[in-house]
Amino acid sequence: MVCLYPYVSIIASLLSALKFCASDSYVAAVYEHVVILPDHTDIPVSPEEALVLMNRNMDVLETAIKAAAQQGAHIIVTPEDAIYGWNFKRETIYPFLEDIPDPQVNWIPCTAPERFGPAPVQERLSCMARNNSIYVVANIGDKKACNSSVPQCPRDGHYQYNTDVVFDSEGKLVARYHKHNLFMMEKQFDYPKEPEVVTFDTPFGKFGIFTCFDILFHDPAVTLVSKLQVDTVLFPTAWMNVLPHLTAIEFHSAWAMGMQVNFLAANTHNTSMEMTGSGIYAPDGPRAFHYNMETDDGHLLVAELDSHPCLSATPPATVNWSSYATSIKRFSSDEHDFPGVIFFDPLTFTELTTPEGNCTVCQKDLCCHLSYRMAEKHKDEVYVLGAFDGLHVIEGKYYLQICTLVKCKNSDLKTCGQPVATAQTRFEAFSLSGTFGTKYVFPEVLLSGVQLAPGKFQVLSDGRLVSHHGISEPVITVTLFGRWYEKDPPQPQQASLYGYI
Ligand SMILES: *[C@@H]1O[C@H](CO)[C@@H](O)[C@H](O)[C@H]1NC(C)=O
Ligand SMILES: *[C@@H]1O[C@H](CO)[C@@H](O)[C@H](O)[C@H]1NC(C)=O
Ligand SMILES: *[C@@H]1O[C@H](CO)[C@@H](O)[C@H](O)[C@H]1NC(C)=O
Ligand SMILES: *[C@@H]1O[C@H](CO)[C@@H](O)[C@H](O)[C@H]1NC(C)=O
Ligand SMILES: *[C@@H]1O[C@H](CO)[C@@H](O)[C@H](O)[C@H]1NC(C)=O
Repeated sequence: MVCLYPYVSIIASLLSALKFCASDSYVAAVYEHVVILPDHTDIPVSPEEALVLMNRNMDVLETAIKAAAQQGAHIIVTPEDAIYGWNFKRETIYPFLEDIPDPQVNWIPCTAPERFGPAPVQERLSCMARNNSIYVVANIGDKKACNSSVPQCPRDGHYQYNTDVVFDSEGKLVARYHKHNLFMMEKQFDYPKEPEVVTFDTPFGKFGIFTCFDILFHDPAVTLVSKLQVDTVLFPTAWMNVLPHLTAIEFHSAWAMGMQVNFLAANTHNTSMEMTGSGIYAPDGPRAFHYNMETDDGHLLVAELDSHPCLSATPPATVNWSSYATSIKRFSSDEHDFPGVIFFDPLTFTELTTPEGNCTVCQKDLCCHLSYRMAEKHKDEVYVLGAFDGLHVIEGKYYLQICTLVKCKNSDLKTCGQPVATAQTRFEAFSLSGTFGTKYVFPEVLLSGVQLAPGKFQVLSDGRLVSHHGISEPVITVTLFGRWYEKDPPQPQQASLYGYI
């Protein structure tokens, strides 16, 4: 008995560990929200008026949270700016802010609402989590007093942060994250001097959190996944889509695949600002996604995910992005190359002139190889293979290496790289690779109508992005979107550095 006991317990713990890795799953929800915007954002309102607007938005979020809980969701993510909107000035956002304490204080706002002064928004979010027994992720504004005679402190005597909060299923505040990489228009907010790396543990995995524009930069996004090894990233966003490479569903699902992590993206919805596209993404592809440019409606997505995706990944996570591309010679010469532009970046293009073929295009150190077979070549549809190796400098400075197959807007080669949302050309097969200098590459496949292609492509361990079974829908783009963080200028860059807005 004495001898057997430890033996049995080792077996038991091995078994439970195996079960934990292989079969643990949970249900995630994200809600795309049509934000009820303030009437104006140029003159300050009273705190009471601010709360009335925030409660109207929280009424809508509450309905989504209840519905998600009823469908068995363990956690729900709501979007950035979902509770009060955007386009504020520093003074006009102020009545919407609350002092949000460090989660270490161990606080359930629902049961002790006045503990840190008035906090009606945190109280209500906490109660929604507690009453419905679900983790609630929301984006609100934090204010922190500072001494205005200290140089870093803003002249009005406080910092204002774009902040994500997480309440657990008992309503306890378990995470607070201050956005680091503010987008140009967010003049109402300050950013923390050092990026905050925020994680928390749950019975269904380890979570990390960051916001919108943060996804384009190394810190804290990459650190959370590669150093802290979170299982799932929570991502409130107010994302304006940019074709062909930076639509929300396309880039966020690619990031999940490139980083081998679960990713829960909740976007705001406003078609006139090109804001739509939310999803529940696993490393091997989307479990659910939503894109709607037709109507202005909210939308709830609910789907199951592995709690520990890297342990159950097939194939395993190690991809050498340049292995195949550096092992072969050029497929084609550069004699028909021509210059073009995608989202302000100067690319080198070559046209796909035949229904099937192998071609290569290079720029600086990056050579991109494509093997493809179209189902049929449409005379009026032109596709090009493009390469970009350089610093992107508009709306933020960040170094890119891009290999891309894109459909041109029309048969004039000058339109190649301009946004297109539809196509007619189907591809029976493609294989795209590049001689990347970075190990951070995000694989994108976008189909006609701005749709994803779950299960229709994969990345091989030698870095080739290959089609699976022939793709039934026409293709807008197939892209390997590489980020070379080491070549970035210091981050973050302040809005005042830009020549506009
Ligand atoms: C939570 O439940 C309590 C008691 O049932 C109720 O008074 C409160 O209004 C509920 N709050 C929310 C946000 O659902
Ligand atoms: C603010 O900083 C100044 C200069 O360092 C100091 O003299 C002053 O006492 C500080 N005020 C408060 C309220 O801490
Ligand atoms: C979308 O955003 C714009 C700009 O803020 C605003 O004027 C418009 O009313 C919004 N649309 C909807 C449906 O909320
Ligand atoms: C990737 O493959 C290339 C070519 O086989 C090789 O030179 C390189 O060292 C590999 N990189 C890594 C990080 O293993
Ligand atoms: C493309 O390359 C593959 C393998 O190198 C070869 O089998 C195929 O015939 C080539 N296709 C064309 C159209 O040249």
